[in-house]
Amino acid sequence: MEVDDLKAKDKMKNTIRLEEMKNTGTAAPVPTEAEVAARVDALLGRMSLEEKIGQLTQIGGASFVPGPKPEDVIRKGGAGSVLWLNDTKQFNALQKIAVEESPSKIPLLFALDVIHGYRTIFPVPLALASSWDPVVAERAQAVAAREARAAGLHWTFGPMLDIARDARWGRIVEGAGEDPCLGAAMAAAQVRGFQGPSLGAPDRVVACAKHFAGYGAADGGRDYDPVYLSEGQLRNVYFPPFEAAVKAGVGTFMSAYMDLNDVPASGNRFLLRDVLRGEWGFKGFVVSDAFAVGSLVTEGFARDGRDAAFRALRAGLDMDMASNTYLEHLAGLVEDGALELADIEAAVRPILAIKIRLGLFEQPYTDESKLAQVVALPEHREEARLAAQRSMVLLRNEGRLLPLAKNLKNVAVIGPLADSQEATEGSWMVFGHTPAAVTVVEGIRAKLPGAKVAYAPGPEIRRDIPSMFDEMFGVKKAAQTPEQAEAAFQTAVDTARDADLVVMVLGENADMAGEAASRASLDLPGRQEELLEAVVALGKPVVLVLLNGRPLSIGWAAEHVPAILEAWEPGSEGGHAIADILFGDVNPGGKLPVTFPRKASHAPLYYARNLTHSPEGSPRYSHRYWDGPTTPLYPFGYGLSYTTFAITNLKVAVPQVKVGSSVAVTADVTNTGSMVGDEVVQLYIHQKAGSDSRPMRELKGFERLTLKPGETRTVTFLLGPAELGHWSTSAGKWVQDTEDFDVWVGADSLATLHADLAVVR
Ligand code: NOJ
Repeated sequence: MEVDDLKAKDKMKNTIRLEEMKNTGTAAPVPTEAEVAARVDALLGRMSLEEKIGQLTQIGGASFVPGPKPEDVIRKGGAGSVLWLNDTKQFNALQKIAVEESPSKIPLLFALDVIHGYRTIFPVPLALASSWDPVVAERAQAVAAREARAAGLHWTFGPMLDIARDARWGRIVEGAGEDPCLGAAMAAAQVRGFQGPSLGAPDRVVACAKHFAGYGAADGGRDYDPVYLSEGQLRNVYFPPFEAAVKAGVGTFMSAYMDLNDVPASGNRFLLRDVLRGEWGFKGFVVSDAFAVGSLVTEGFARDGRDAAFRALRAGLDMDMASNTYLEHLAGLVEDGALELADIEAAVRPILAIKIRLGLFEQPYTDESKLAQVVALPEHREEARLAAQRSMVLLRNEGRLLPLAKNLKNVAVIGPLADSQEATEGSWMVFGHTPAAVTVVEGIRAKLPGAKVAYAPGPEIRRDIPSMFDEMFGVKKAAQTPEQAEAAFQTAVDTARDADLVVMVLGENADMAGEAASRASLDLPGRQEELLEAVVALGKPVVLVLLNGRPLSIGWAAEHVPAILEAWEPGSEGGHAIADILFGDVNPGGKLPVTFPRKASHAPLYYARNLTHSPEGSPRYSHRYWDGPTTPLYPFGYGLSYTTFAITNLKVAVPQVKVGSSVAVTADVTNTGSMVGDEVVQLYIHQKAGSDSRPMRELKGFERLTLKPGETRTVTFLLGPAELGHWSTSAGKWVQDTEDFDVWVGADSLATLHADLAVVR
């Protein structure tokens, strides 16, 4: 195959064909750029300055947001968008005020965080990334978009594209993990899923690439803490998912909360103007994170609200989320001559353009009966189950304990998460959502209709410091007393003792990962480890199912529990999907999108580190710490299957490739076991010398394949200038060095099948 054919094939590979997703709405004709621009000009021509500033204002519709009533603000034309509201009737009522009573009658954009499903909940994004299958992510977000749109939402605050290399950081759950190549693929897929082929496609919503940029590198993994990243790290590691989102046509961006190299991301011209618009040609609009314009003062950057509004707008931030700083100060800034009317209009334009493209002027309202019909579509549950199956990672399977036989008669399912709908659906639910997942106990009972399946939760687990969201939403959770916990512990051990096989379901509650949910430890919270050890001591076969939103330190389990399934937070159909895997109806094929460190104190730990003066494993200084190994517990890209694979016959088409040209890399993958299964074939490179030190390994391609027993397929990857070049700190620009490279292809980031490649003039 020619390189061009390969490139075309590569483009197609991960895109679902649109006719595969049935639409429930009707497509509006797609207007041309010129038509949109003309309509925007006409609108601007009849809007007052106050109304223009209103379009730059997103108000909170929830009761916890201080300030005037949304109705009153909207009536005056003081809001372009509303967030934190989730009720079709209310959307229609507010929209009626906007389009009938506000001065220029411009419809509102309704926005909400629809992160991994609206009513049908999909695996959390970290789990979707574990599928290493962008089609899974695209379809999941297409279903989420369809439900959200049916409810009356136009815009979601996703996908979250922050590279996260520190498992302590709570928001690691919301993204695709530690790697820019996997992250970029998942970014583009999610944008396609949310938005469809174009902005305004039926049953889709506008996506928002967030949080731009560097948020995942918070000092110490502490949420909101400052971030210091070199330009090289930003461009080589943290930006690629965002650039991929722009290339996929994402409509909006959200600026991050924290300081990036001492300049808050929401007032950061380098990010919002120079890179996003200047270099990448982004044409949509940028919204701040919630209250972030106001926070420019809190962060010690802006002098006061006026200064904050001025600096944010000048930096390229178009819409102020919830802080009302623009509403209060922009008009004064224009009147004083500090800002030009043109500055305001430049920010309003892309907002109006999106409203036009969405067809909101023609169809501002939502049919209130639609959501029920859409949510009932059976394929939504099927997609959720499939996504969950494909997202799980088999970490250990000693003695081939899994898959389990379906003639088991007496099973115990133990652990605080085993029957928790909340933990099964995971973090980041849309406002007002009631968890309704199939739990692990239910999933196992459905597989073993005639058997005894006993359940005992053991002691509860809870955060030491309650979540800020509990306070916001008035959630009160009564704590178990130590005596109750002890009784629950004993009951759990007794229940396990009575069974022939035990499935332990441990990990983290939904509120233990996510925003403001960082941890100093990666241990199993509460008494879970103790319970696990007590149950394993009974001598029964034990399977550990993990429900969690981040890597955990499960070193003891990794040595003593024969079978471990990383199920993440798998969503509405989680319990069924887990049972499908445990009982062999589905062969697991997910791989880790993040390194599992042995301990929290090893964080940040990621595979794409630079070599050092004395590389790890070298005889002189093989260890980084003297008190134990710092190698990962499980490496990036790792995951087992019930079958086995051999990856062989690595070929680099030509030993030398010219700068600017591409070379094909092929390898054969064979299913050497006796069950149909999936392998994710991964390509890594290392540039041996050059303008800068480069990571010892970098992922540059991957493909997930399903193979029958005995089947062999050849996988082809392309290495071109994008893969073989990098942003050079020493040169201050993008370079492609004429140097030697290592190439590896394999089943995880420790792949050993090696070839050489040289880049030449
Ligand atoms: C704050 C979070 O950081 C962001 O991810 C979210 O989209 C907004 N709040 C809106 O809810």
